[in-house]
Amino acid sequence: MSVVKINVLTVPAEQREVLEKRFASRAGTVENSDGFEWFELLRPTEGTDSYLVYTRWRDEESFTAWMEGSMKAAHQGGGAEGGERPRPAASGSTLWSFEVVQQTPPRSA
Ligand code: HEM
Repeated sequence: MSVVKINVLTVPAEQREVLEKRFASRAGTVENSDGFEWFELLRPTEGTDSYLVYTRWRDEESFTAWMEGSMKAAHQGGGAEGGERPRPAASGSTLWSFEVVQQTPPRSA
């Protein structure tokens, strides 16, 4: 079964827009990675102020390979110009790891 890796980002209220824009501009950086299955950026609405970066992978090895390789491209703050890295919008991050035990896709119409 797949593994789920959730990066929990602490984002000051005034940085939310910056964070979301940075993610939007980084769209397309992860989906070609071998073993990649799903990505969602989740904006908190109740119960927490943390943003969740939900990712799902075929197995632990796929996630590790991405982290050691193209993850770095997805996290180069300033883009390709090689200029000074802008301050992260997030002020903290924590990685949560899960194994998928059971799943149910919706019945297709
Ligand atoms: C579970 C896997 C992931 C980990 C462990 C991870 C790690 C991190 C960390 C540590 C930060 C904190 C801010 C920084 O230092 O830049 C961050 C922010 C960010 N990540 Fe990820 N990330 C993951 C998934 C992704 C994916 C899949 C994408 C692209 C689609 C992505 C794009 C970004 C962007 C755009 C930021 C915002 C930088 C900012 O704070 O301004 N991340 N990530």
